[in-house]
Amino acid sequence: MNKFIKDAQKILTGNRKRGYTLPTNNKLYPAQWNWDSAFIALGYSYFNLNFALKEIKTLLDGQWKDGMVPHILFHNTDTNYYPNHTAWNCGNKIRSSGITQPPILASILKQIIDKNKITKKQKLEIKKIIIKIKKSHEWFIQYRDPNKTGLVSILHPWESGYDNSSLWDEPMNKVIIEKNIQYKRADNKVINPEHRPLNIDYDRYVTIKNDLRKKKYDPKKIFRTGLFNVIDIGFNSIFLKANKDLIILLNKFNLNSSKIKNYVKITERNILKFFDKKKGTFFSFDLRNKKKILVPSITNYLILFADINNRKINNVLIKNLKKHNLKEKYFFSSIKPNHKSFEEKRYWRGPVWINCNWFIYKGLKNKDGKYSKKIKQSTIKLVEKKGFHEYYSCKNGKPMGANNFSWSAALYLDLKLSNY
Ligand code: DGY
Repeated sequence: MNKFIKDAQKILTGNRKRGYTLPTNNKLYPAQWNWDSAFIALGYSYFNLNFALKEIKTLLDGQWKDGMVPHILFHNTDTNYYPNHTAWNCGNKIRSSGITQPPILASILKQIIDKNKITKKQKLEIKKIIIKIKKSHEWFIQYRDPNKTGLVSILHPWESGYDNSSLWDEPMNKVIIEKNIQYKRADNKVINPEHRPLNIDYDRYVTIKNDLRKKKYDPKKIFRTGLFNVIDIGFNSIFLKANKDLIILLNKFNLNSSKIKNYVKITERNILKFFDKKKGTFFSFDLRNKKKILVPSITNYLILFADINNRKINNVLIKNLKKHNLKEKYFFSSIKPNHKSFEEKRYWRGPVWINCNWFIYKGLKNKDGKYSKKIKQSTIKLVEKKGFHEYYSCKNGKPMGANNFSWSAALYLDLKLSNY
């Protein structure tokens, strides 16, 4: 077996705890993270289907009664992570954060089912999983899109997964930091602070969190009165694709899909309103402050993953995507390097992330096979050359953030082993 495949498997099993997997083996993220776990499950599916299903099952064990799947589950409450379970003060059966993360589970599960032989016992487990995923999608529709626009809101930058992206600069600037705010960051003791979000970002993350907590995470109330309410195009692209995949899963298991089908129709129609014809790009929208967000983030291209049925727009997007990184040795930088907010080393403000490349590679498969292959090859090369890190410089591939990073290992396995 190829050495890198072995290494990737070792990282995943090395980071595995009881039924779930840490994003990394250092102390940066000592819990179960929502979208990390989904990517991790896909990685496991290449060598241990039961681990894959267990990872997803454990994540869904933390689902709230109303349907939300939290962004963090604190299985081990004795860690230095901030904000920890007491800072959030919520959870259902498992202590958790009070916000969610990009809903990629349905798409991941569909891929896992498509390429694996499933036993009868696994089929029963999968059906239970699908029912829970459906409940979480209905939660999004009910509480994050109360006006049925077809697009859902995120109420904290952490919900996007791309925490300190420059996409959030304007909406975050409007958040008035709580007076005498007190907390102790732990992340910047583990990782070079120059590669992590700024203190002022954390002040606002904590301010928003405290506000949600004060409102008891009441989903109706926080949508109306939250300090941050953004329709992010990347997040909605993931949700649209996940809804499409969920419909297929529901039909396969003889479950009702009409509500989701109906929602997909609304989304497909309305998401096109977020396309800026002049710039040839999708934009996000700050719902709280009623303002367009036109920042050249790579996540705007996740719409390719959603497979919208509009060849003209897809072609324009691909043309612009090819210009996202003209001068850099490694792509895709999270923010386009000529933008004023670009920072080569700071987390989501410039570095290359394997999951973004993966989304775009997947999205391009049926639209520009040659380019899609190129993205896949160069992503594989980057990982093989620089290791399984959290993120990388687009200029020289310098690895940054956590090492032994689970989703980089998991998605490497998918890129390397999926038959395309
Ligand atoms: C962190 O702690 O940096 C995480 O990204 C929040 O989800």
